[in-house]
Amino acid sequence: MRAQIIGTGSFVPPKVVTNDDLAKIVDTSDEWIRTRTGIRERRVTDENTAASDLAFLAAEKALKASGLDPNDLELILVATCSPDTLFPSVGCILQDRLGAKHAAAFDVSAACSGFNFALSAAAAYIEAGKYKNVLVVGADTLTKYLDWTDRNTCVLFGDGAGAVVLKATDEERGVLSSFISSRGEGGKYLVMPGGGSRDPEEKMGRFIRMDGKEVFKFAVKALEDSILKVLALANISLAEVDLFIPHQANIRIIDHVTKKFNLPEEKVYVNLMRYGNTSAASVPLALDEAVAENKVKKDSLIVLSGFGAGLTYGANVVRW
Ligand code: COA
Repeated sequence: MRAQIIGTGSFVPPKVVTNDDLAKIVDTSDEWIRTRTGIRERRVTDENTAASDLAFLAAEKALKASGLDPNDLELILVATCSPDTLFPSVGCILQDRLGAKHAAAFDVSAACSGFNFALSAAAAYIEAGKYKNVLVVGADTLTKYLDWTDRNTCVLFGDGAGAVVLKATDEERGVLSSFISSRGEGGKYLVMPGGGSRDPEEKMGRFIRMDGKEVFKFAVKALEDSILKVLALANISLAEVDLFIPHQANIRIIDHVTKKFNLPEEKVYVNLMRYGNTSAASVPLALDEAVAENKVKKDSLIVLSGFGAGLTYGANVVRW
């Protein structure tokens, strides 16, 4: 059995914040942000919107595209590191809002790698014959955890959600291989210190703290390694891949890998200029846009890859 992607969907909040908008509140410029990251603007949720609201709207679209009814779902996995509450999970909130009465639901915590981790887990359930219809969502609202006076972090992130519906198939398509890996020793380089059981009163702050240079070094290597390892697992060469959809964090990280592997630019999907780093949403949001732009067709071979806090990294090879 393989886990075939039979529907995709995404949602971003309507409010656009441009680099020029940020330059009004912190010592930065459109030129600096564009040349160092590739980002031009990002979407930001309002105070009444939480991760599950974005997840719900993306999931509804993916379900509609798939033709499945919420009652068909047996499992809902939500990758998020900005859940509405510590509990219940976003998965359970989403299950209720969708009316997916027969689905088990839980969250996957692997930050920006979360979607690739959740997709690999969902595929493993399907391959093992445990479930046939699974919803996987990546949803994050990291702008709620930004220190808007810290120019090192506040320019990088945006909010959004993306979703896929998976169905068991006996055809040789869907998720062909998955690779996930963790480097806990590097956890200190990208941290949300407050709000957990170590610091429930958030004395350490509830803002993202990052060593950008260390994360950059890790990210370049992680992207390279995850792509090579997941392709080796599927016995597929770089040249056979039709589209690479890397985590949308920084154009310089993506460019590094594009050059290193000598990939044609049109084979590497990039939308970070419009959204910034949307964390767990980044890969499924990019996938949904690539599908809408007809860049993914029947039989296309695609590689989804990501890296993030933990530190974590992972990838999936998918035949459409
Ligand atoms: N605007 C203007 N100047 C800025 C700035 C901003 N938004 N952010 C940092 N700077 C300054 C720094 O303070 C530094 O000034 P200094 O030399 O006077 O100290 C200078 O620009 C260069 O900073 P540096 O950290 O060397 O820049 P960089 O080229 O490494 O780019 C990042 C910084 C954050 C863009 C880059 O390190 C990065 O993308 N890292 C990975 C982050 C990431 O992807 N995180 C999420 C992973 S899922």
